[in-house]
Amino acid sequence: MRSRSRLTGFFRLGIGERRRQVLEASGLPEHRLAAIEPGALPLEVADGMIENVIGEYSLPFAVAVNFVVDGAEVLVPMAIEEPSVVAASSNAARLARPGGFITEATPPVMIGQIQVVGIDDVDRAAVALRDAGASLLEDARRLVPRLTDRGAGPVGFDVRILARHPGPDGGVVVAHLNIDCRDAMGANLVNTLCEALAERVARIAGGRPALRILSNLTDGRLVTVRCRIEENDPEVRAAVASASRFAELDPYRATTHNKGIMNGVDAVLLATGQDWRAVEAGAHAYASRTGTYRPLAIWRDDGTALVGELVMPLAVGTVGGALHSHPAARLALELAGVDSAGKLAAVAGAAGLATNLAALRALATEGIQRGHMALHARGIARAAGATGDLVDRVAAELSASGDVKPDRAREIVARLKEFP
Ligand code: MEV
Repeated sequence: MRSRSRLTGFFRLGIGERRRQVLEASGLPEHRLAAIEPGALPLEVADGMIENVIGEYSLPFAVAVNFVVDGAEVLVPMAIEEPSVVAASSNAARLARPGGFITEATPPVMIGQIQVVGIDDVDRAAVALRDAGASLLEDARRLVPRLTDRGAGPVGFDVRILARHPGPDGGVVVAHLNIDCRDAMGANLVNTLCEALAERVARIAGGRPALRILSNLTDGRLVTVRCRIEENDPEVRAAVASASRFAELDPYRATTHNKGIMNGVDAVLLATGQDWRAVEAGAHAYASRTGTYRPLAIWRDDGTALVGELVMPLAVGTVGGALHSHPAARLALELAGVDSAGKLAAVAGAAGLATNLAALRALATEGIQRGHMALHARGIARAAGATGDLVDRVAAELSASGDVKPDRAREIVARLKEFP
């Protein structure tokens, strides 16, 4: 059987041939690609999505290849402006084959917060709210009978005391409503239920209702991704494991390490129409949960292989949100073969672990700049008018000259076109 995601030499092909191979691998009909043609989002639709629209803003749309996620060959859609993320994750995914990336996820439980202020006795309020928890949950469940019938919807209720001593807000308590949102990211659902319950919660607590909104620290909606990379060179294994320990020891490095993870995660989120700001906020808060900012993924040398593990919150949805209106986001989900929020979280997490590995390998061996400059040179060569074989020849000459600039590229393109 032809492998669905192992598309050898994909990056060397022209856009037409890449599209042909992606259609063949995905089984989608050609007309679906209209969704990623420039101008595919009608201006009236854009005007309905946000306010004060005066145009549209485009980004490159690519697929990262070679991914195997939970045993399935997956084309990973990415929208991103940064060169090398797609290539680097495709390379790392190739190294992770044949086992690929193995994932597990918690149920998709989001947290809604109902803040109550002006409470005289917060201990009494907390006890009263806990006593009423089951009945409050029942109220919430009645508002979403269809979800509840499916075993989802409101599933938990917690209370936390935030301020005991009278300050500007008096005593403050927050009630957490935990809601299994299934395939929705869930922001609207969570906010609606929090607003519906707030008056009763405040009455029971003996205070005034204040904010009623989801928390983006979605630590009830985690994905874990693992992979194993056979690596014969003990020095490379040791160097990557040491790079991981550096991030475990130092928040300055951990931040950059996590940025490398978010390169892959965000590219998938953007392509698939997700609220990537929500995931970013949750990821960094989760990384700081011990009081020290820590890496979201770590790597160990097991003597023959590099073993990586990523754990992070990933609140994503395959229904609702921008998916209603954005044709490219819908196509991206189809290309990835993703039909549930859990699968989308698995693919985004795998992309994050892949970009992390690629960065650590490059940094721990030859440094990141050589690969970046080679890709940059190809981009400059293309922009200067090189096509087909000429791209590699112009890029090679540009890199060798150490002067990777548009003027130089135009000179080389002109010369090679005249004297091939
Ligand atoms: C660049 O976009 C990402 C890296 O800085 C990540 C890292 O240092 O691990 C290369």
